Amino acid sequence: LIKDIYRNTEKYEGQTVIIEGWIRTLRASKAFGFIEVNDGSFFKNIQVVFEEGLENFAEISKLSISTSIRVEGKLELTPGAKQPFEIKAISIDVEGSSNSEYPLQKKRHSFEFLREIAHLRPRSNTFSAVFRVRSLAAFAIHKFFQERGFVYTHTPIITGSDAEGAGEMFRITTLDPKNPKVDEQGEVDFTKDFFGKETSLTVSGQLQGEAYALAFRNIYTFGPTFRAENSHTARHASEFWMIEPEIAFADLEDNMELAEEMLKYIINYVIENAPEEMEFFNNFVDKGLLDRLNNVVNAEFARVTYTEAIELLKKSGQTFEYPLEWGCDLQTEHERYLTEKIFKKPVFVTDYPKDIKAFYMKLNEDGKTVAAMDLLVPGVGEIIGGSQREDKLELLEQRMDDMGLNKEDYWWYLELRKYGSTRHAGYGLGFERAIMYLTGVSNIRDVISFPRTPKSAEF
Ligand code: 4AD
Ligand code: MG
Repeated sequence: LIKDIYRNTEKYEGQTVIIEGWIRTLRASKAFGFIEVNDGSFFKNIQVVFEEGLENFAEISKLSISTSIRVEGKLELTPGAKQPFEIKAISIDVEGSSNSEYPLQKKRHSFEFLREIAHLRPRSNTFSAVFRVRSLAAFAIHKFFQERGFVYTHTPIITGSDAEGAGEMFRITTLDPKNPKVDEQGEVDFTKDFFGKETSLTVSGQLQGEAYALAFRNIYTFGPTFRAENSHTARHASEFWMIEPEIAFADLEDNMELAEEMLKYIINYVIENAPEEMEFFNNFVDKGLLDRLNNVVNAEFARVTYTEAIELLKKSGQTFEYPLEWGCDLQTEHERYLTEKIFKKPVFVTDYPKDIKAFYMKLNEDGKTVAAMDLLVPGVGEIIGGSQREDKLELLEQRMDDMGLNKEDYWWYLELRKYGSTRHAGYGLGFERAIMYLTGVSNIRDVISFPRTPKSAEF
């Protein structure tokens, strides 16, 4: 594999090797030619040189980009050249041909164009780098939590509970709208179709995660979540992945420490294990990315309460599209101004007004704010949302009543407060937003293999 050759070049010097991969570029003259091949094992290509003497020289000279080939050849070092080594072909066999209609010809393509060919874009440099980093970051997250003894908990995808209480769920129905089964009254209820129950796709695994934290102490989830919010922004998707740790015998402070340690760990892991990809992002996607990330792992994140943040934003003299008042939610423009202009690093905003946050957050002593924390980062805004949970049954019931939620729907969640309740906290890291932050890619559609947004569910 190409990766092995790059990492252990001395071992292969002068050896005959076999490469199976796809043509990325091909240049040929009468007497010889060069092919850059990528075999998928590594971000970089390997250069193959072929000469007139090759049995099928004429055929090979005319091959199109993306043809899959099998090359047998000798590895030679090329000191001083652009690439550290090349393969002198002994034989080249074609496995699958391609043709000149292949849309990814060698030039720069816009992200918009590449989105339309989501089935081919992983073959481009940018997306090769994005999805390698995505894979590594996922591994780093598991490694981080497993090393600390957290139990990986699989929470349901189909659920009867609205974890955020915000009503932004995709309903499940198996009914055929053209041929619905009608009940005795002659009516069709599309919403109650999961064997007569009302169910949806999960917006968060938190509530079930809390149940497991109250048995295992420290757990995390890592899975797909769905939101039926009709947001057409560069950072919202209808389907995205979330990591949700939940920790028992812990408060908001412990929660923030965990989040900060985790994010630094992921950054370090990716910089260490994907140096070529990160260098590429630094040069072609977001200049200065590596310096910024290196600063982040070496500095302490800032902390500010919501109330202080509102004051800072008001004092800044900056005019915002959405005016600011205590009590209103921070918009992306405010979040980014805080983290990019005021603090110039990741910042935790804590203690939001209770009315703009979910029902499960612990009420602070002032009776007005809750023990919430959002982590905002430059370039993206909010990547983490979390809180200490309300662990007192009466207060939780009170909050649910105030917000008009049906307590019966949450009967099992409420029982967690009856049987050995304890202080506990947790957060959700939006995985795609983390990847945007790590790579400098500015649109969420470009860090998801086949994105689902209000306007796109193709592929
Ligand atoms: O702030 P959110 O809604 O918090 C929760 O879901 C809690 N239940 C988490 C918890 O405490 N266990 O979402 C958490 C994170 C956000 O900070 C954001 O990064 C991401 O999930 N997120 C989205 N990412 C992409 N597209 C969307 N539509 C998103 N909505 C939230
Ligand atoms: Mg949030």
